[in-house]
Amino acid sequence: MESKYIPEPYKIKMVEPITLLPKEERAKRIKDAGYNTFLLKTRDVFIDLLTDSGTNAMSHYQWAGLMLGDEAYAGSENWIHLEETVRELFGFRYVVPTHQGRGAENLISQILVKPGMYIPGNMYFTTTRTHMELQGGTFVDVIRDEAHEPERDDIPFKGDVDLGKYEALIKKVGPEKIPYICVAVTVNMAGGQPTSMANLKAVYEMSQRYGIRVIFDATRCVENAYFIKKREAGYEDKTIAEIVLEMFSYSDGCTMSGKKDGIVNMGGFLAVNEEDLYRKATGLVVVYEGMPSYGGMTGRDMEAFARGLREAMNYDYIRHRVEQVIYLGNRMSQRGVPIVKPVGGHAVFVDARRFLPHLSQDELPAQALAAAIYEHSGVRTMERGIVSAGRDKDGNNYHPKLELVRLTIPRRVYTNAHLDYVADSVESLLAEASDIRGLKWVYEPSVLRFFTGRFEHI
Ligand code: F0G
Repeated sequence: MESKYIPEPYKIKMVEPITLLPKEERAKRIKDAGYNTFLLKTRDVFIDLLTDSGTNAMSHYQWAGLMLGDEAYAGSENWIHLEETVRELFGFRYVVPTHQGRGAENLISQILVKPGMYIPGNMYFTTTRTHMELQGGTFVDVIRDEAHEPERDDIPFKGDVDLGKYEALIKKVGPEKIPYICVAVTVNMAGGQPTSMANLKAVYEMSQRYGIRVIFDATRCVENAYFIKKREAGYEDKTIAEIVLEMFSYSDGCTMSGKKDGIVNMGGFLAVNEEDLYRKATGLVVVYEGMPSYGGMTGRDMEAFARGLREAMNYDYIRHRVEQVIYLGNRMSQRGVPIVKPVGGHAVFVDARRFLPHLSQDELPAQALAAAIYEHSGVRTMERGIVSAGRDKDGNNYHPKLELVRLTIPRRVYTNAHLDYVADSVESLLAEASDIRGLKWVYEPSVLRFFTGRFEHI
């Protein structure tokens, strides 16, 4: 049965034309881009599902806020508004603005991670782990095993931390070697899978027992809150804002990329409760980002961000946002496309191992599939597999269990008609899957190689 979708809880006031290039042109553009969808030009893309990061459509209220930008070097009105909003919605004492999420990751890693330390987390994220490693730390994955199994669809909170794995690490290396645990809500690389309130609470209790800080990666925390409301007993009648506030009560701080659930195009922050951490972070932020009252954002950015955070707590907004992603996932799944289940909050992840069973992981199946989807349909997606995973300290490729292509849905940008086109295109590509060839590296950057790496057909 066809799943029906929820009408968009907004109407459209301004449009941005998009065009589909002819197929021969698309083949040429992706070849010129080194078969890396990050290197395509927007003008060559029909539907852009590369990322939900900074690609959101702002509301009329946010756009109006831009006119109130107070572009003072220090003490801007908009910073006061953003700081108050973060304190109120998340419950933290101190807020340090950064230009985006990785700016906050840089600050917390520089302050807390020392060589030889271990940072557990519920699956890695690319920039987050890189900042830990740049300080000499080692990331340790303590997510529940099922998060690595794309076909397991019977687990509502695949993002949960495995407490057994976490405690085993503490016992092995000692709590003094663990500056914090990084808990993502939701888990991007696992397919946008949520973390339950019960798990967040249990992780916090265990961490307190051992004197270890809990730092959330808050990037998609509102989507996580929606899943808690929908799936966890006792939360059905709570508001999204109440759930968010409770989630963060089980943490000591967070890094946030405002480019996702802040519904803006740029921005981020680090928030903490410890005064000493705050002092250190403000000392560093002036070196890397800007004054502690703008951190790389303009006044107008901060105004839009404060307004976006509040809009994100609106139930009609977040329900439509997540259900739109689930609609796309269900439509693809019903048509036989192998995807990660259950569908997560921000994206549908296609399982490239099952889509291209004739390719080994070293033939870069997800990279090849992302390139093929573009060539086939003009839809831009992103590799999330061996290419994104990078190499370990000894130079060996990580071989992640998940070899995925991410179809990421920007917030409030595409209609369900666009998503139908995407689902039907990927379905029709499935019939030609055996013709898709593997890729090999032509240029491999040493850090975060997926962004600018180049490839050719084997
Ligand atoms: N944490 C998570 C879970 C993320 O998804 C991202 C960014 C960051 C941190 C870093 O934030 O980009 O503002 O510096 N994810 C983007 C993506 C790039 O496409 O998933 P940033």
